[in-house]
Amino acid sequence: MSREIVNTHQYQAWNGYEGQHWANNNDRYDAMVGGMNRALFGAADIRSADHVLDIGCGAGLTTRRAATLAPEGHAHGVDLSAPMLVRAREVAEEKLIANVSFEQGDAQVHPFPLASYDVVISRGGVWYFSDSVAAFTNIASALRAGGRLAIMTPSTEEPETGGFPDLLRIMREFVPDTPTLAVEEDTTGTDTLSTPEGVSNVLTAAGFVDVRSESAPVTQFLGRDAEEAATFMFEMGPIRHWFGDVDEEAEGAARAAVVRALEEHVDVRRGVRQPTPSLVTTARKPG
Ligand SMILES: C[S@@+](CC[C@H](N)C(=O)[O-])C[C@H]1O[C@@H](n2cnc3c(N)ncnc32)[C@H](O)[C@@H]1O
Repeated sequence: MSREIVNTHQYQAWNGYEGQHWANNNDRYDAMVGGMNRALFGAADIRSADHVLDIGCGAGLTTRRAATLAPEGHAHGVDLSAPMLVRAREVAEEKLIANVSFEQGDAQVHPFPLASYDVVISRGGVWYFSDSVAAFTNIASALRAGGRLAIMTPSTEEPETGGFPDLLRIMREFVPDTPTLAVEEDTTGTDTLSTPEGVSNVLTAAGFVDVRSESAPVTQFLGRDAEEAATFMFEMGPIRHWFGDVDEEAEGAARAAVVRALEEHVDVRRGVRQPTPSLVTTARKPG
């Protein structure tokens, strides 16, 4: 692991409960955010000899998929979270994927080998930098001239009702003083990467060209039914933290309100699914 960490709150969160919960439930989280894969891999257009870098790769599903799309190349995942990387390596071994590797590091300052990758991808792992321009400048250094970037970020444009943000709003009504989360501390992604204009400003300042963002029609899977989805949501790091000081009665009322909201999105054959506004962005390093 490269020892320099500047996103220390992120480091704590993703090496604490948050990261362990993702690692222990990696299939469940992959099902939850898997709706992004089509847009991400469509945009990344990975070719068989590409060398791919996956930023904030977590438990590694997208790194493994990149590796299988590049059988003559290689995919490398970088993430802050030791527990998620343990899981990433385990699954790659179980699946006998040889052209994949994982490394712990803070992508904002990680000493990437210069001009070594054809494509950089990220499924929601570039959201948490304290300085997005510095981070993308560092990430760009890893791309060869003419190399491509394809990233997915949440979108705050045209928020649709009923999505994950709505559920969080419902919960917040029961937690008047919502405590700040380690994953929110020093994070600039909400301000900088949630609109096409914001993404373009950051990537252009980091030296990328041909920046194009469009909204991606992503649906998030939350659970088999409303009760099961609510149980999982209340175990998630941020939500568990919010309700840490809330009495049982209020938490029960919040859970009931969430179950009611989720029931409107149950499909008997497909479980609880909700739209989650997302942006897919492509860009290129000049050359
Ligand atoms: C929402 S999770 C997404 C994980 C994975 N991309 C996926 O789709 O399953 C965000 C990931 O970004 C990682 N992360 C956050 N800040 C990071 C940083 N500065 N450098 C590297 N990874 C970071 C976290 O450890 C976490 O694994």
